[in-house]
Amino acid sequence: MNLAQAQRVIESLRKGIPPDGFIRHFTVGRASEVAQLTERLDDIVPGALLLKANYGSGKTHLLRFARECALEKGFAVSTVTLDCKGAVRFNRMDQVFGAICRNIEVPDGLGQKGIRSVLNFLVEKIEHAKSDTAGAFWRDLTNNWRWDYSEVLDSPAAFVALRAWATGNSTVHDRVEDWLLSPWSYRTQRSKLYSDLIGSLRRFFHDPRPERHFYRDGVFEFHTQGYAQSWSALRDLQRLLCESGLNGLVLLFDEYEDVVTNLRNVAHQEAAFWNLFQFYGGKQFPGLSFYAVTPEFVEKCVTLLTGKGRWDYDYGRFKAIPTFQMSPLDVEELEELAMRILETHGIAYDWEPDLVMLSTELDKIVRKAASVQVQDRARHTIITVVKALDRLLEESA
Ligand SMILES: Nc1ncnc2c1ncn2[C@@H]1O[C@H](COP(=O)(O)OP(=O)(O)OP(=O)(O)O)[C@@H](O)[C@H]1O
Ligand SMILES: [Mg+2]
Repeated sequence: MNLAQAQRVIESLRKGIPPDGFIRHFTVGRASEVAQLTERLDDIVPGALLLKANYGSGKTHLLRFARECALEKGFAVSTVTLDCKGAVRFNRMDQVFGAICRNIEVPDGLGQKGIRSVLNFLVEKIEHAKSDTAGAFWRDLTNNWRWDYSEVLDSPAAFVALRAWATGNSTVHDRVEDWLLSPWSYRTQRSKLYSDLIGSLRRFFHDPRPERHFYRDGVFEFHTQGYAQSWSALRDLQRLLCESGLNGLVLLFDEYEDVVTNLRNVAHQEAAFWNLFQFYGGKQFPGLSFYAVTPEFVEKCVTLLTGKGRWDYDYGRFKAIPTFQMSPLDVEELEELAMRILETHGIAYDWEPDLVMLSTELDKIVRKAASVQVQDRARHTIITVVKALDRLLEESA
């Protein structure tokens, strides 16, 4: 960690959380969870995993940890925070797909998020494959770079979007991006999509299909037939990333409990659970997905469904999903965290806090800070330790 990085880290720790890129450095405890997570990524085990912890006990932190590991291990990652009040409802796969596109990142993407950087990345691979004898997939996908028609992808929309992107036109890019981020807002604008992404681009390729076929075949629709194309486009994304040499896509869903607490309609809730089981099954999406929930999540789901008369529901499905159950960090772990903060503070302001503050003093500060209620404990400790060091530095100057 250099001086500038250390200062950025301390700035962020003043608010109680480490910044992106340094999550692993500021992770303590959780050895078995970390080992299992790493193993899943190393072995590329597809399917779903529930991360259970109480409020403030490190769910978001562990997801951020997973993000960092996955990027380093060559996965693309998308972190989605569910929000029924916003436009991310888990029963609506078109909204989930849009949110995944909004938050997706590729390794070495310099922290840039969004489908734009992924499409650029893919088009670069396609360009590169022209001179590469091993580029059979890309050759088939683009039909020898004619881009007229091919059925390599499951989702015709994904083909249309990628082909339009490959033209390099910035207005077209804006349209493609807007469409993929919110496909539902184009339900009544199919002809606009046709005109912008196909009709007006006929000088670049000769798609043999007449305009009406695009509507007949539902090429622009992500919501019909059980959101079939939201799933197939996600599957294609996974496949394209794998063909590009990455290990695939890792999806991280934070606040998954939103499904239970904020989705009111029981049919919507059932659909949201069904989607979770689909992710678990791995057929609709053969990548990895993690979900942050509280320990009572499964019981809450059962109570909710039985309360609404869903007696014949197969509750075993919830129990089948593998789970991590995490307890809050204990005082020793927080002391270790405090030590790392102290070291970083020293680098950031070029001083030696350990000469001024004895480790017993630091431990005392931690123990006092850790006596607040459990859900604020870790955050409060981080903030308190940084404050104590700031004060000490000021005094010693
Ligand atoms: N293993 C860990 N090592 C170091 N710090 C951690 C660890 N886990 C959590 N923290 C810190 O604890 C605080 C709370 O963690 P986090 O926000 O992840 O909890 P949460 O379970 O997502 O909470 P909420 O229920 O409010 O969403 C944060 O300041 C985070 O940086
Ligand atoms: Mg959280």
